[in-house]
Amino acid sequence: MSAMGRLGGKAAIITGGEGSIGLATARAFAAEGARVFLAGISEPDLKAAAATLDGDGFTEHAVAWAVTDVRDSAQVKAAVEATVGRFGRLDIVVANAGVFGTSKPIADYPEDDFDNVMAVHVRGAFLLCKHAVPHLSAGASVIITSSVVGITAAPGIAGYATAKHAQVGLMRTMAAELAPRGIRVNTIHPGPVDNAFQAQVEVTATGAGAAQAQAIFDGMIPLGRHARPEEIARSMLYLASDDSSFMTGATLAVDGGMSS
Ligand SMILES: NC(=O)c1ccc[n+]([C@@H]2O[C@H](COP(=O)([O-])OP(=O)(O)OC[C@H]3O[C@@H](n4cnc5c(N)ncnc54)[C@H](O)[C@@H]3O)[C@@H](O)[C@H]2O)c1
Repeated sequence: MSAMGRLGGKAAIITGGEGSIGLATARAFAAEGARVFLAGISEPDLKAAAATLDGDGFTEHAVAWAVTDVRDSAQVKAAVEATVGRFGRLDIVVANAGVFGTSKPIADYPEDDFDNVMAVHVRGAFLLCKHAVPHLSAGASVIITSSVVGITAAPGIAGYATAKHAQVGLMRTMAAELAPRGIRVNTIHPGPVDNAFQAQVEVTATGAGAAQAQAIFDGMIPLGRHARPEEIARSMLYLASDDSSFMTGATLAVDGGMSS
């Protein structure tokens, strides 16, 4: 709402910004005065996401978007350049685009699914950081959306869990590289969120119907429930803002205790 919030004057790019966690994060950032660029693969969802933000009375012209496949270097570079062109700066980078792939035992795990999951999460985060980092300066924050299965794992998710662990390696490398420039890099590790992405994961993983699958997962979460996207967004805001000014190289679990 205000230009002077915790992110006042700053500009952010969020991949998968039209999705559940991405849009909740964009809303949390915009409410604190940031201008936000949404980069994602679904044009209708990007348009709708930008419209809801514009309609919420945030700073005028605070939202822009572009269809961007994070697996494609030229498209990611173009999205970063469009962000800087539009807002004149870049302060917050959120590598958040994701796909689940499938759930199969390792011997049956399809190679195509493995390659695609790695491409979206690992190559996608790498490309975003590679193209964004030259535009960042001291005080900037890079956040990679990993998962509870970036620090734990479960049977059947060789692609997704491997990709989410690999993002931690990318984060730690960049945290070490960029600390001398005053740029912070962290991963966030959400537990199960009450959204369509996770519902598909749970049905695929358990073979149960949606409601029963959700109840099975609730039983695995110490807090006994799924997160709301806004709860993940609040932790994104913490990592993006100076509230976390001495935090870099960290894995922030926001998982209802699931990894503990
Ligand atoms: N939902 C959960 O419970 C949960 C838990 C832990 C981590 N995560 C992670 O959070 C992130 C966001 O997921 P979500 O729950 O909001 O799901 P979502 O499906 O709502 O959002 C994912 C977004 O990524 C975009 N995307 C997919 N492939 C892309 C590509 N090639 N290029 C650009 N964009 C692409 C989709 O269009 C979508 O907007 C993902 O990285 C996911 O792995 C989700």
